Amino acid sequence: MEINKEIDESQQGSATVVKSDKPLNGKKLYLESYGCAMNFADSEVIASIMNSEGYATTSDVHEADIVLINTCSIRENAEDRIRKRLSDFKNRKKRQPGLIVGVLGCMAERLKQNLLEEEKLVDIVAGPDSYRDLPNLVNEVGGGQKAVNVLLSRDETYADISPVRLDKNGISGFVSITRGCDNMCSFCVVPFTRGRERSRSPETIVRECHELFNAGYREVTLLGQNVDSYRWNMTSKGEVKDETQSTTNFAQLMELVAAVSPDLRVRFSTSHPKDMTDEVIEVMAKHDNICPYIHLPVQSGNTEMLQRMNRGYSREWYLNRIEAIRRIMPDCAISTDIITGFCNETDEEHQDTLSLMREVQFDFAYMYKYSERPKTLAERRFEDNVPEEVKGDRLTEVIDLQLSHALAANQRQIGKTHTVLVEGPSKRSEDFFSGRNEYNTKTVFPKGEAKKGDYVKVKINECTSATLMGEIVEILPPAKK
Ligand code: SAH
Ligand code: SF4
Ligand code: F3S
Repeated sequence: MEINKEIDESQQGSATVVKSDKPLNGKKLYLESYGCAMNFADSEVIASIMNSEGYATTSDVHEADIVLINTCSIRENAEDRIRKRLSDFKNRKKRQPGLIVGVLGCMAERLKQNLLEEEKLVDIVAGPDSYRDLPNLVNEVGGGQKAVNVLLSRDETYADISPVRLDKNGISGFVSITRGCDNMCSFCVVPFTRGRERSRSPETIVRECHELFNAGYREVTLLGQNVDSYRWNMTSKGEVKDETQSTTNFAQLMELVAAVSPDLRVRFSTSHPKDMTDEVIEVMAKHDNICPYIHLPVQSGNTEMLQRMNRGYSREWYLNRIEAIRRIMPDCAISTDIITGFCNETDEEHQDTLSLMREVQFDFAYMYKYSERPKTLAERRFEDNVPEEVKGDRLTEVIDLQLSHALAANQRQIGKTHTVLVEGPSKRSEDFFSGRNEYNTKTVFPKGEAKKGDYVKVKINECTSATLMGEIVEILPPAKK
């Protein structure tokens, strides 16, 4: 899920500024986001809703009249970080008693009303499906009450809301295509915080991609917890189609988005191994502007463990999906997510994860220690019985192995030429640009004559396990339609 912009659910929180061209009410909103790309995309919807109410946003918390924190519950340490942050706001509120503090997103949904008891400074608790109600919630607080809306919806997709883009580069944007998740992986809190899965209409998705392209964006990432289960089966009147009428699946949706412009790169996240079809890979292979990169979280390399995780596939099935990717699109990059120390994990099961990693040679991976989450199937059915130290040791082994694979994969690129979309100056030096190649690897090179938003051919000269370094050999002209 985190393929874009190096977002890691538990690692990153960021503040954002919105420029408003609507009549303002003189009040300022400070918005901070944690968690996955879906949460960052939601923050753009939140900014849009608040903007329509006249709130300008600020990246300076000192000038804020209202602070909203869009939160993540995926692991305990993600929540711990947010609680620490809330205590900063508590101190601020002592100095500025009128300050309104709202907790939004997954932690709000998980803790509901209880959050108000636990965190006395909080005024608003709003779950992921209640953002249209934010203006009312803010008014309630203005009237001296606390305000809570944690209702989950079966059909809210915010499809008609034009998100206010909060990313800094103006080149790469997120577009939500589904919300919620119906999978119930036993370790995962998301079905409880985000509710039932629902798809957004293809028309509104394609329209948003056109708007992004026209605003100068050159890359979209289609977002869903399981993009492969995208399915749109409504008529334009909002009625469910019968079996004789055609529906839109994820492969078809990608074709529609790929047709927006040959100069618009298409990425997506997250694919689910149990649902990823050959048709999706074939569509990727057919379109030059769909990036040859798939994030396919495996979680574990052992079939019994995958059963305990309720993932819906076996080791063999996963390897069969990898084989299909390699067959249909031999140069496709593949990344994954891995959890170490899930309930009852034996050393043999852990060894199976390492052997699967050796077999697949992932280009990139997000790796985590298991963190038990309240209400999940695992919390109810199993004991969180792998000692912390063992979880940590296994994680270290997994990370070390992965880094060696990533380094080897990057070293194989030295001497080759990749197409990179220029995103902006590199973090280290203003003289260098940073972007990502078609495989989603960060690539850094001297600026030369290139501009942000250009596609450039970069010859790779050096690398680390995370970054490729090279030089521009050609600036590509815009594609002819
Ligand atoms: N929908 C995506 C994943 C969303 S959460 C999918 O199905 O693959 C992102 C990642 O966080 C998961 O892939 C998993 O590796 C990790 N994760 C989720 N719950 C976790 C938990 N309780 N403890 C540790 N890692 C967890
Ligand atoms: Fe969580 Fe599984 Fe849904 Fe991913 S597919 S969000 S891991 S329940
Ligand atoms: Fe976190 Fe919610 Fe995303 S729990 S990972 S912000 S869906």
